[in-house]
Amino acid sequence: MFQTMRFRTPVIIFGMNVVNLIGEEARKIGGKDVFIITDRGVAEAGLLEKVLEPLKNEKINFEVFDQVEPEPPLENLMEAFRKAKSCKVDLFIALGGGSSMDMTKVVSALMVQEADVRDLFGVEKVTKPGLPTIMVPTTSGTGSEVTRMAVFTDKAENLKKVVSSHAITANVAIVDPMLTVTMPPKVTASTGIDAFIHAVESYVAINASPITDPIALEATRLIAENLGPAVANGQDLRARYNMSMGSLMAGVTLNNAGVGAVHALAYPVGAEYHVPHGVANVVTFAATMEYISIANIPKFVNLAKAMGEPVYGISSREAATRGIKAMQELAEKAGLPCRLRDIGARPDKIPAMAIAAFREKRLLGNTPRQLAEEDIRKIFENSF
Ligand SMILES: [Fe+2]
Repeated sequence: MFQTMRFRTPVIIFGMNVVNLIGEEARKIGGKDVFIITDRGVAEAGLLEKVLEPLKNEKINFEVFDQVEPEPPLENLMEAFRKAKSCKVDLFIALGGGSSMDMTKVVSALMVQEADVRDLFGVEKVTKPGLPTIMVPTTSGTGSEVTRMAVFTDKAENLKKVVSSHAITANVAIVDPMLTVTMPPKVTASTGIDAFIHAVESYVAINASPITDPIALEATRLIAENLGPAVANGQDLRARYNMSMGSLMAGVTLNNAGVGAVHALAYPVGAEYHVPHGVANVVTFAATMEYISIANIPKFVNLAKAMGEPVYGISSREAATRGIKAMQELAEKAGLPCRLRDIGARPDKIPAMAIAAFREKRLLGNTPRQLAEEDIRKIFENSF
C-alpha cells in the first residue's frame, strides 16, 4: 500500500544527431584520454567516425577496442580490460548494442576496483564507481545505456552471468536515433522486441511505481506502433526516432521497476540455444503473459489499450487476452521466431531449463504471479 522507492537514471541526451555533442560532454566530465569500446560491425558501418570527429574537434585523445563479441564471453571482456589497462584512460565511451555497453560498464569498474570479474556477478558487488562512462547505443533495444546491469556468457558453465550494481550505471547516455538507421531488419526486430518486453514486464512488475507506470505504458505504445515500420524500412526516420525513444523509456523502467519471468526464462534459453537476447525472450513471452495475467487484469487491459486494441463493451478478461494476442502478433509480423520449436528447442530440455530459470529469484520475485518450478515447466511447454 505505502511504497518506498528510488528513481535513478543517468543524464540523458536524446535527439537527432546529438552524437555531435559527445566531445563537449566528454570534456565536461573531465575526459582527456578516452577509451572507446565497440564492435567491428559498428566501426565498419561508419558509426565510429561519428564519435571520433567530435572528440578530435575537442582535441581529446582516444584509443579504440573494436573487438566486442555478441553476448560477450568473459574472455572477451578481459581482453578489453587488458587493453584499457595498458592505456592512459580517464573516460570510457561505449558505442554499440547491449554487448558493447555492458562490457564498458564492467571494464570501467575493474579499472578502479581490483577484483576477479567472477566476484562482481550478483547484486551490488561493485562497491566503488568505476571511471566515468558515456553510453551511445546504436540499437533500440537493450536499454543498457540507462541501466545498472551487464550480462556476459560464462562459457565454462554455459550460463549467462549478470553484474547488477548501481555503481556501474553510466554518467551520460547519448541516444541518437540517427545511429540506428543502418541496423538490419533482423537486429531491429530482435532488439526492438526486447525493449517492448522491458516495457510490458516492468509495467506489470511488483516493483512498478506511479513514476514508472506512465513511462512504461508510453514505451509500450511507441514500440507497438513503430516496430513494424522500423523493420520494414530502416530509413523511416520517424519510426527510428520513436523506437529509440520507446527503447530508452523502457530502459528507464527496466532499471527502476525491473523485469520478471520472461527474462528469467530467457537465461537458460539463450545459454542453451545461443539466440539473440530478444529472441530468447520472445519465444516464451506470450505464454508467460497468458500465465501471469490473472494476477493483474486491470494492468493488462491498460496494455491492450496502449496497443490500440478495442477494449470497450467486452469483459476485462477478454480485453486482457486481446492485448496478449496483439503482443504475439507484433512479434510475428516483425518476422521473429515466436515459439520454442521455431529456434530448434527440444522438449526434453524443459526440466533442466525450468530448474535454471527457477534459480532467477530476483526476477521471479518481481513477477506479479508467484511461479513454482512446476509453473515454469508449464510455461515452457505452452511455449512450444
Ligand atoms: Fe532484456
